[in-house]
Amino acid sequence: MSRFPELLLGGLGGIAALLLASSSVSAADVAAGEKAFGRCKACHAVGEGASNRVGPHLNELIGREAGTVDGYSYSAAMTQAGEGGLVWDEASLKGFLANPKGLVKGTKMAFAGLKKDQDLENVIAYLATFSAEAEKKADGEPKQEEPEKKAKAAPAGQAPEPAAPASAASPAQEPGAGAHFKLGREATEAEVAAWDIDVRPDGLGLPEGRGTVAQGHDLYDENCASCHGDFGEAIGRWPVLAGGQGTLTDERPEKTVGSYWPYLSTVYDYVRRAMPFGNARSLSDDDVYALTAYILYLNDVVDDEDFELSKDNFASIKLSNEDNFIDDDRDSEPHYARDIEPCMTDCIPGKAEIKMHAAVLDVTPENAGDDDAPAGGID
Ligand code: HEC
Ligand code: HEC
Repeated sequence: MSRFPELLLGGLGGIAALLLASSSVSAADVAAGEKAFGRCKACHAVGEGASNRVGPHLNELIGREAGTVDGYSYSAAMTQAGEGGLVWDEASLKGFLANPKGLVKGTKMAFAGLKKDQDLENVIAYLATFSAEAEKKADGEPKQEEPEKKAKAAPAGQAPEPAAPASAASPAQEPGAGAHFKLGREATEAEVAAWDIDVRPDGLGLPEGRGTVAQGHDLYDENCASCHGDFGEAIGRWPVLAGGQGTLTDERPEKTVGSYWPYLSTVYDYVRRAMPFGNARSLSDDDVYALTAYILYLNDVVDDEDFELSKDNFASIKLSNEDNFIDDDRDSEPHYARDIEPCMTDCIPGKAEIKMHAAVLDVTPENAGDDDAPAGGID
């Protein structure tokens, strides 16, 4: 007996409903869906040339039986759900994306779920644009390339994004001052500014801006909690961001921003540069101040939701582990000070023998994604 009788019946009807939703009745918004898809991007690719990543690619998703992308290794739960009749349409996707483990118990998709109905509808409308099945029904024609994507690819020349210099290889460009090999050109001021975003512990390099704990709270719930957990405790194996104070001398210390990181500047720099994972550089400078303030709050470094972090008070915030980081100028480090040549050959008397593998030590998960212990945290 099918475990998904209503979903099976909902198959084609669901597509019709989806088309209705995206064309007229509801305000499902493809552009907003593309933005919301930022939260899926770390694990899923979609569009031309999309390949399987942590999760399967999501092209031709609408009308597809669950667990059937070639070359992707699904959980047994997902494969069985497909065999049991689960087909991806608006209704089943809504159920799954709102609560993945609720619809497919045992799925290895480590994602808490989209909470807002509007986000769900928008993401599904966005994904439908990569499904011929849905598009065909929408306008009676095969899928056309999205104008939006073309627009993005076109005028790369002036964009102040770090990606831009790639266009320097194009023969249409003026040869630059690097005359020797006639390769590349000088970076523009805007390109240098886009690269030059490091922040030093004393605050040098911080941009103008400000943000409060309360603002950071909202941004965090929206952009970060799906991986790092509501309180920084982490979902699955994503990194833990809060807690662990007092565990550094334990056998298995829990190293977080609050327990281990020496300088707040690293938090600002890291979040601005790399987060949210899969959608890096999407946050404004003020957003990053607010999120950094909220991470301080999650770690009890500040306790007031109204606390505002800004360029002005940034350097006055100290993290508790700073003093345990010391400058190593090599010469004063005992090993180097004694000037002993490091041993490079036959360092162990007798025959060298492998006693343990990283997998046995449980440092490397054997099958990434299947293991629910947080990376770097305490099991
Ligand atoms: C942390 C990584 C991760 C995130 C984030 C994530 N997914 Fe997944 N997703 C997976 C994995 C892994 C699977 C495979 C599940 C299985 O085999 O049980 C999966 C499966 C799926 C499937 C089923 C595909 C199929 O071929 O049957 C859909 C649909 C899906 N994800 C959509 C989404 C959408 C939309 C988002 C964002 C709102 C999202 N996922 C966010 C990892 C992720
Ligand atoms: C899709 C999952 C995902 C999302 C969403 C996400 N992160 Fe991360 N985050 C990661 C991963 C993975 C790492 C570790 C990356 C590495 O080590 O290369 C990380 C690392 C971090 C770290 C460093 C932790 C440490 O101790 O090393 C901070 C701080 C951080 N993220 C903050 C944020 C903030 C703030 C947001 C929201 C704006 C966010 N992350 C959104 C996956 C995510």
